[in-house]
Amino acid sequence: MIPLMSFSILIVSYVGFQNFAATIQTQLINELKAMASHIMDRLSYQMFERVADIQFLSASNILVNPNLTKSEKMDYLRSMERSFKSYSSISLYDKEGIKIGDTRSILLGENESQKTFFNEAMKGKVYYDTIPILSESLGQYVIHFAAPLYNESNDIEGVVVTRQPLNKINDVFKEIGLQDTQIDSVGSNLKLDLISDNGTVIYSNYDRKSILQILPGFQELISINDQQNNRSILNPASAETRIYNDEIIVSVPQGTGHLDYTGSNWFLLLRVNTDVVFGNLQKTVDHFLIVSGIILVISIILILFIARTFSLPITKLMKKVIEIGKGNYDSRIDIKSSDEVGELASHFESMRQSVNQMNQTLNKRVIERTLELEKANEELRLNDEYLGKINKELVSAGKAKEEFMSMVSHELKTPLVPAKGYVELLLKQKKTGELNEKQKKYASIVYRNIIKLEVLVNDVLDGYKIEMGRLKIQKNLVNVRDLMSSVVSDLPSLIGEKQIIIKVDSKIKEETAIMCDQRRIEQVFANLIKNSIDFVPEINGKITIVAELIQNETMVQFSIEDNGTGIPADKMNKLFHKFYQIDTSLIRKHGGSGLGLAISKGIVEAHGGKIWIDKEYREGAAFRFTIPF
Ligand SMILES: Nc1ncnc2c1ncn2[C@@H]1O[C@H](COP(=O)(O)OP(=O)(O)OP(=O)(O)O)[C@@H](O)[C@H]1O
Ligand SMILES: [Mg+2]
Repeated sequence: MIPLMSFSILIVSYVGFQNFAATIQTQLINELKAMASHIMDRLSYQMFERVADIQFLSASNILVNPNLTKSEKMDYLRSMERSFKSYSSISLYDKEGIKIGDTRSILLGENESQKTFFNEAMKGKVYYDTIPILSESLGQYVIHFAAPLYNESNDIEGVVVTRQPLNKINDVFKEIGLQDTQIDSVGSNLKLDLISDNGTVIYSNYDRKSILQILPGFQELISINDQQNNRSILNPASAETRIYNDEIIVSVPQGTGHLDYTGSNWFLLLRVNTDVVFGNLQKTVDHFLIVSGIILVISIILILFIARTFSLPITKLMKKVIEIGKGNYDSRIDIKSSDEVGELASHFESMRQSVNQMNQTLNKRVIERTLELEKANEELRLNDEYLGKINKELVSAGKAKEEFMSMVSHELKTPLVPAKGYVELLLKQKKTGELNEKQKKYASIVYRNIIKLEVLVNDVLDGYKIEMGRLKIQKNLVNVRDLMSSVVSDLPSLIGEKQIIIKVDSKIKEETAIMCDQRRIEQVFANLIKNSIDFVPEINGKITIVAELIQNETMVQFSIEDNGTGIPADKMNKLFHKFYQIDTSLIRKHGGSGLGLAISKGIVEAHGGKIWIDKEYREGAAFRFTIPF
């Protein structure tokens, strides 16, 4: 960006310089034109004065006055010469061309009838040389001004001639002062030539030797001028300017129109070498270009350097950040810079260090945790192995149990069926013959024990089934009142000889029915009632059986309450465990195996109900259980 701007400034400056040069050139040309016009005006004016002088002398009566002597006439001319201050000599010629008088008394009597000035004046003209002529007698170049002298009868009596030396023309240039140009270095280098129309040098400010020489260069210049403009350079109205052969050339013809002076067909060439005018300027431009170029190059290098100083740390930082992003936290961000980039880098470095530290801590923790996990895994594997082993053992124990149970049901129950059958036959006495009282008594004992054994085997099997979760429940819709009636109808065989008041309190509607396995629920009732029967007193025993709806009529609750010994509070929790019996003297009397309540619990829970002892009940024992309604 900055190099581009610098380059633009350079271009603009260069164009500016070119415009400046063109302006200077125009200014110079105008100045030269003004100078040339001024010189030519002065020259014309001088020439006009010389023409006026000769006209004055021509018209003077003194020179043709027959009454005055020749020496008086010459005294007059000498006094005129002194007052004019411009002539080398003033001469008088008779009409034959013989010099009859001269202010310098040179070559008197000389016949100059062949001279142009004489012949032209004799024609009645006022004559002047356009090219200075060498006067041998005076030893200098002069311009002859000649005019006729008329007598009283208006005939040409003779000719008066003035000779102006060439150096009088030089005086004009001296008076003007060529050094006065406003453009530096031009004044002393300005070449000034006064040329006649055939290329003869009349005046040169730099080459004295060329004066009155015809220089081919000027002839060429004139001819080129003629060809190019198709008009004469001598046209007094034109002032020409051109640049030719590395020179600015201003040419101004001598003007006409000043009184009766018609001009000498001279023109003035002012030449300045372009090197002189623009050399310094060109040098300045060259220096400017070189210095600007150097500044541009230095600024580009400087900018590149600064850009590198800025971009290098940023690029380095970016690479590091990418590396960190990839998870390489080890490589240190080492950027030494006193600016914002350096500050940013140091912040990144401290961030990297903390991330690295965190990463290392995390890695360490991961390793530790992995080790712990591996250890735990190993422990788990060992535990698994151990559990597998135990499981195997359990499976084999389960198998053994199952085998035992099938053995119990087969090996124990199978012999009971015929034993029971035969004892029944004995007791019915019809087919086997009459038994005496003693035999009857013994047979009854055998029968009761067979029944007991049968109950025990069934209870053990049920207990096992419950434990194994294999108790089969066949639910049917059972009317609760029917269920209660069925339970009550079985009571007399259970009560035996005891005097017990059985009270049934059905607090439910007649049509109330529950989904249950009737045989199993009756088994629960039997277990609970049998226990109560065993623990109520022999006389005035009381058992109350209640059925009611509880829990927003979602459950049917059955209760068996008695007025027996009750159960000590500290034993209540263990009652539903298998084979648990409260150790009292009554046990002997009560008998049993301690399975009844455990089986009852299994059956109730298999129906989605609960069984418990009412701890608040004080009269004896109160067992309650629920079956969903
Ligand atoms: N109504 C009750 N009053 C006092 N004690 C009771 C009552 N019901 C049960 N028990 C106590 O609870 C114990 C466990 O009873 P459970 O019915 O489970 O077994 P069991 O009656 O001893 O034997 P099984 O019922 O298997 O023939 C009983 O031995 C008894 O000590
Ligand atoms: Mg019992």
